[in-house]
Amino acid sequence: MAEARRCRLVAIPKFSDDRGSLSFVQPGPSLPFEIRRVYYLYDIPPDRERGEHGHRKLQQLIIALAGAVDVECDDGREKRTFRLDSPDKGLYVCPMIWRRLSGFSAGTVCLVLASEPYDESDYFRDYDDFLSVALRT
Ligand code: TYD
Repeated sequence: MAEARRCRLVAIPKFSDDRGSLSFVQPGPSLPFEIRRVYYLYDIPPDRERGEHGHRKLQQLIIALAGAVDVECDDGREKRTFRLDSPDKGLYVCPMIWRRLSGFSAGTVCLVLASEPYDESDYFRDYDDFLSVALRT
């Protein structure tokens, strides 16, 4: 199966009452990895994009805690775009995906749960380098 097909939206549990809402994420079917790093994107100026890189091994779950963003997942053969616009929705991103985050609404805060500590050697920063590996399999 093409890698981009393994990227998927996952439903995050939501408990709402007259005090507001609470959601949680823990390892399980919707999060098939142990969390070894957390980071977040914020203060994103209008019309700016993020991502534009791939990872060899890293798995991630991306959640728009506030605002909205489009995440394009490209496995080298196929591209799929997912809209994240609610804290009760996450995008699982499997390894070997070139991702592009665009269409940020004002005030967007994106939480990223990651399967590995930061490791620059896990990155593809060049699309042609990414393609040369992605198309080999
Ligand atoms: P980068 O991965 O290029 O950001 P984005 O995916 O949002 O475009 O990271 C931006 C900078 O932050 C880069 O210099 C690496 C650094 N960084 C860390 O030091 N630790 C981290 O966990 C992450 C995600 C990035």
